[in-house]
Amino acid sequence: MPKKDRLTTSVSISIILTLTVILSACTPTLLDSSRANGPSPTALVTETPHPTTTPSATATPIPTATAPPSPAATPTPSPTVAPVPSPNRTPLRISVDTGFSAEESWRHVERLASEIGSRSVGAPAVDKAADYIADQLASYGYQVERQSFPFQRYIDQGSQITVERPHQLAIGAGVMQLSAQGEVTAALVDVGLGRPSDFDAKTVKGKVALARRGGISFDEKAANAMAAGAIGLIVSNNEPGLFEGSLRTPVSIPVVAITPEDGQRLRALLNEKETVVRLAVKAHVQEGTTQNVVGTRPGDRAGAVIVGGHYDSVMAGPGANDNASGVGVALEVARALAARDYPYTVKVIAFSAEEIGHLGSRHYVSALSPKERQSIVAMINLDMVGVGNNLTVAGTGQLVAIGVDAARKAGYAAARLYGQGGGASDHTAFLDAGVPALYITWGPDPRYHSAQDKTHHVQPRLLAATGQIVLDVLKFLSNG
Ligand code: BES
Ligand code: ZN
Repeated sequence: MPKKDRLTTSVSISIILTLTVILSACTPTLLDSSRANGPSPTALVTETPHPTTTPSATATPIPTATAPPSPAATPTPSPTVAPVPSPNRTPLRISVDTGFSAEESWRHVERLASEIGSRSVGAPAVDKAADYIADQLASYGYQVERQSFPFQRYIDQGSQITVERPHQLAIGAGVMQLSAQGEVTAALVDVGLGRPSDFDAKTVKGKVALARRGGISFDEKAANAMAAGAIGLIVSNNEPGLFEGSLRTPVSIPVVAITPEDGQRLRALLNEKETVVRLAVKAHVQEGTTQNVVGTRPGDRAGAVIVGGHYDSVMAGPGANDNASGVGVALEVARALAARDYPYTVKVIAFSAEEIGHLGSRHYVSALSPKERQSIVAMINLDMVGVGNNLTVAGTGQLVAIGVDAARKAGYAAARLYGQGGGASDHTAFLDAGVPALYITWGPDPRYHSAQDKTHHVQPRLLAATGQIVLDVLKFLSNG
């Protein structure tokens, strides 16, 4: 749609926003990488992302325009987090024609998840999805680039745990991406969640560690186990079934996942007698290339905003919520912005290979020149935005404050988290490079990483709410 057709709407939106949104001074320069308002992101990665571990806030619609935010709107940040001054906004609920269509957004989810299907990197469906996204962006008038990069992934070929003592028992296991391959046999030791304190007073050297999923990331569990001298690591799920886990950096010991039931079985054995296990990791390494899809709409003002999300999925299912939903919203945001006079350059990016270690976003960030990196006003990452009752916004302090406020305007109370926000996704590559980033996610999703993560579970109302929040944050940034 030509820009001018939307001019009246744009102008009225500007006027409404200017009149109703009274903001404390907050220019993009305040959104720099210093993260002065919170601890460093790494200090805040408290757990392996998991639906049940996402801090909760109830998505309570705000009943009246002048009602103060419900207590859930400002969940207590962790005690180590310095509070960020909330922008002094009048909590008015306004309804504007954002140009964002929930139906269109949902249709993208349907195309990606139902028609194209599971988009596990290495499968031809990933390239079909990239073509679809590129076509959409081009049809909105964006310049489209494909950014190719290499990937390596493990295809499990029957990794297994065999209990040798006190009696023989075979246990199915799934290899974690970037685990070492090979076979080790040693006594098993229960290390709780695998935090450093869990290793105190335990003899782990030369043994295989058994840790529960949760609390800290897989990388941290593996690093702690290796530091304590473990020669293998087994992580038991805290949800039914197995999970497709990934480490972010290669490790020198075999690391596998097992079901919670098998975890219980092993712990029960351990409580009785010394238990010796053989851990065999057999995986085939698949190599190939995949691509990020980058749509650009140049702006008149120096600086760029990025709205993105990953379009790949796990092998287990069609990845409707994780993360066709984020791409569906990003595409509609792209379309809505194309019809406006947005001052900054807009980049809408669909990242590949998130599920095998955030490879796409890491590649994108690593390819930026220092100048390009510094010109990014904000990166907004959308991951799992179509299922659940709890909205979480995480990332750089000032952006989180703006995001929470935008959510409140859209009628939702959001939990705020500073830094990486208890969820590993594509924003972390940007945060690590000092780029201001905002992560928006809904949860919990009981079908996370399962064959049941299907389109009909994705709620258009949540896509619309997310789109409205993103557009409002962008509007705020451009007014700064
Ligand atoms: N969308 C998830 C992250 C997530 C999980 C957000 C649960 C909110 C709730 C993401 O695609 C993912 O699964 N990431 C991997 C990490 C990566 C390094 C392989 C994960 O959590 O295992
Ligand atoms: Zn995801």
